[in-house]
Amino acid sequence: MTNTTLNKFMDRTTKVKMNPETYIKFDDTDHVMISNIFSEGSALRIKCDILLLLWDITDWKAIGDILDAWPDPVDHPKIIEHLANLYECKIVVTEESEVRKPLESGLSEKLGSKIHINVENHHVMMKDFVRLAAYRRAIERAIESGKTVAMDLGCGSGILSFFAANAGAEKVYAVERRQDIIELAQALAHDNEIKNVEFVQGSSSALSEEVFTPKPDVFISEILGNGILEENVLEFTLDARDRLCAPGAKLIPYKLDIYVFAYHSNLRQDKGLEVDEFKDLYGVDYKIFKEILCSKSTLRLDKFNSRIDRPITKPTLVKAVDFRSFDNPTFTSEFELDVTEEGNFTGYCGYFKAWLDEDTSLSNSPWSPDTHWTQMIYTMPVTREVKPGDKIKMDIVYDGNLRIRALS
Ligand SMILES: C[S@@+](CC[C@H](N)C(=O)[O-])C[C@H]1O[C@@H](n2cnc3c(N)ncnc32)[C@H](O)[C@@H]1O
Repeated sequence: MTNTTLNKFMDRTTKVKMNPETYIKFDDTDHVMISNIFSEGSALRIKCDILLLLWDITDWKAIGDILDAWPDPVDHPKIIEHLANLYECKIVVTEESEVRKPLESGLSEKLGSKIHINVENHHVMMKDFVRLAAYRRAIERAIESGKTVAMDLGCGSGILSFFAANAGAEKVYAVERRQDIIELAQALAHDNEIKNVEFVQGSSSALSEEVFTPKPDVFISEILGNGILEENVLEFTLDARDRLCAPGAKLIPYKLDIYVFAYHSNLRQDKGLEVDEFKDLYGVDYKIFKEILCSKSTLRLDKFNSRIDRPITKPTLVKAVDFRSFDNPTFTSEFELDVTEEGNFTGYCGYFKAWLDEDTSLSNSPWSPDTHWTQMIYTMPVTREVKPGDKIKMDIVYDGNLRIRALS
């Protein structure tokens, strides 16, 4: 690509629009797809230029869609044609509401050719064999062939519904709030000749009870997040249990245990020193910012790295959320971690164990078979030395956001 050609497209007054037919509204998590594009290497420079151009004039989330269809990086004439298409306003940014109509009619027939559905997240989840093996086992054990009516809340590409259908469920409600993904699941059911799945589009909490007649006696959901409760599994499960399911319906998962352990890190982590550097870097004193930052622990969603960090307490069960009996979708409880190893208390790590049935559990513990989930890793603002016998006072709070805090 010549500079002249590129310059034409670097005119920041250009209004880039996105055609309603090709527009898909992405979840926040789909940012991952954009970073994947960056890691492709050879086309990086060109893609960066386009991103810079588009950055402030269009919806960042939609850019992934444009780039996903990007031609082969060595095919310069094609790239120029692609740019020309963008420039000629073949792309039209619209509100999601405007987009719904074209998507609602007959997307299935068009799949693969016209619509770029982001399946990256679902690909990651489908590759997680640990997750799917556990769910498949629990679903097959729960379904009574020819009798069970099941509901799959958040069916995504439909895999758990298909497990239930293939296990002989009389009927499966596959509920999904995203129009594009549910249409994909429908197309997959069609291709696989799975007929006893009824697809219901919408957020479960907004759906009326009448949609679910007969009421499901097995409830399945996999809306577990890296931040454990971040996808509101507690609220959605309780709502579905009380309104949409038959009384006493079997819940998969039926319980979520939350574990925490404290760790020592060999890496020196000093957030304060980093903030001090802002003055040299940007000429602005960030003293107040530093005070706030250093007054609390920082959360990152990451895999616990046992090569750098080592536990100084045993993993401790700090909260058992039993969906069968839980009534209030908020909680606070205090707990203590018993220090068993000498070291610096650098931070703590939270993870879950989901009970799919009495014998089938699924965990993102650093010591369980690897899954696509990370753990919740907190770094203390300041480390302190601890020794066996010491106690670390903590609490866990859920009020729509899950927080695990060190109190002493
Ligand atoms: C983690 S994915 C799991 C997808 C699929 N069940 C699987 O196991 O591969 C969760 C899906 O649930 C959907 N979802 C989350 N909460 C929902 C709700 N309350 N009602 C309908 N769909 C929901 C999301 O859009 C997403 O597609």
